[in-house]
Amino acid sequence: MHIVHIAVEMAPIAKVGGLGDVVTSLSRAVQDLGHNVEVILPKYDCLNLSNVMDLHYQQSFTWGGTEIKVWFGKVEDLPVYFLEPQNGMFWVGCVYGKNDESRFGFFCHSALEFLLQKGSSPDIIHCHDWSSAPVAWLYKEQYALNGLGNGRVVFTIHNLEFGAHHIGKAMAHCDKATTVSDTYSKEVAGHGAIAPHYFKFHGIRNGIDPDIWDPYTDNFIPVHYTSENVVEGKSAAKKALQQMLGLQQTDTPIVGIISRLTVQKGIHLIKHAIYRTLERNGQVVLLGSAPDPRIQGDFTNLASRLHGEYHGRVKLCLTYDEPLSHLIYAGADFILVPSIFEPCGLTQLIAMRYGSIPIVRKTGGLYDTVFDVDDDKYRAQAQGLEPNGFSFEGADSSSVDYALDRAISTFYDARDWFNSLCKRVMEQDWSWNRPALDYMELYHSARKN
Ligand code: ADP
Ligand code: GLC
Repeated sequence: MHIVHIAVEMAPIAKVGGLGDVVTSLSRAVQDLGHNVEVILPKYDCLNLSNVMDLHYQQSFTWGGTEIKVWFGKVEDLPVYFLEPQNGMFWVGCVYGKNDESRFGFFCHSALEFLLQKGSSPDIIHCHDWSSAPVAWLYKEQYALNGLGNGRVVFTIHNLEFGAHHIGKAMAHCDKATTVSDTYSKEVAGHGAIAPHYFKFHGIRNGIDPDIWDPYTDNFIPVHYTSENVVEGKSAAKKALQQMLGLQQTDTPIVGIISRLTVQKGIHLIKHAIYRTLERNGQVVLLGSAPDPRIQGDFTNLASRLHGEYHGRVKLCLTYDEPLSHLIYAGADFILVPSIFEPCGLTQLIAMRYGSIPIVRKTGGLYDTVFDVDDDKYRAQAQGLEPNGFSFEGADSSSVDYALDRAISTFYDARDWFNSLCKRVMEQDWSWNRPALDYMELYHSARKN
């Protein structure tokens, strides 16, 4: 099957959040099943080109009076076409910036125009979120009629919080729609953009790419490890992390947080958990940045207070830093994800791949992937899994405490059991093995429509 993703993020060259991870890792998983998968991406000026192999100019075409240059290269072994309009449109801003609606609208149009002029006729055109939603209606209303083959449009919603109008319109036009976990698909079932189209809407949980996130080959951690030597590997990573961030070199539990700092991610619960962990003699490492300057300012103030008051026990790194994120996944004992809502969430899955125990709020994809060691034994068994973390329901401080306190006590009071839990979570399979097959089934059923 020939599948073309049209998207505005792609890890590791243009990643803001999980959308970028998913475009790359889903594509790779489907390619590994033997299909022809291609990606079309804007050629931003901020692209991390060291991760693009054999980048070369391929052709030009004109659309809407603008010349568009097409570049071709391989990213993580995937064929990628980069569109570069000569009016400089994609050069402004790094992925998201100013005038995104018109920039991305232009991008979607030119991506379809490119496929048409190239004489390509994919079986599936897969678009993502509000930013490439216009592909759905442009394809159905113009390009399918103009001769761009007999393809089907699949639309994936990664986050319904942004661009609901675009999302509703794409839902009406696409052949199949998905969102990134089963529980989130149910949580948003009544939403105005979803409800009328619920019959073609499916929840397929995200996976992570086991090659990109692999403590056995990871270049950003000091000692490579598998579940067999998880204790040694994580202890070396913990020391390196503590040294790098100026934390005391003690064997206390480290709670890590790696997150965009937005209301979605449960900012008030994050703040509370930092203090609670410090009170319980733990250490905290937070890596995050806030798109909203007021929230960024607020965390900057919090950081300077905490760094003074709890010197050597807490570090807030208010930036985006891919290598540091790897060291935190490996060196922390727990990764906290107290989201108010979470369509899927990848950080809890990456955490488990590195033998770190997730502490999460029971919502969306967090509910579907984390099973509390005390409360969710039967729910886990129904999925053929053993419990793998700590979780809580409410959105108040005592709810967080319920999970956090149990997690920290386990570290202090039941260390052997805690170590066996780390080993167990590493052995669970949160790759695309299963969900990629679900996508293939969905693609096939879209073709039958
Ligand atoms: P979302 O897409 O809502 O931000 P996800 O959990 O799906 O949340 O994906 C977040 C991705 O972004 C993960 O790969 C995570 O490691 C990464 N990430 C988030 N914040 C940072 C940061 N400050 N530095 C490096 N990586 C980050
Ligand atoms: C969105 C969601 C997140 C999801 C990611 C990838 O950004 O907030 O939950 O994991 O997309 O699908």
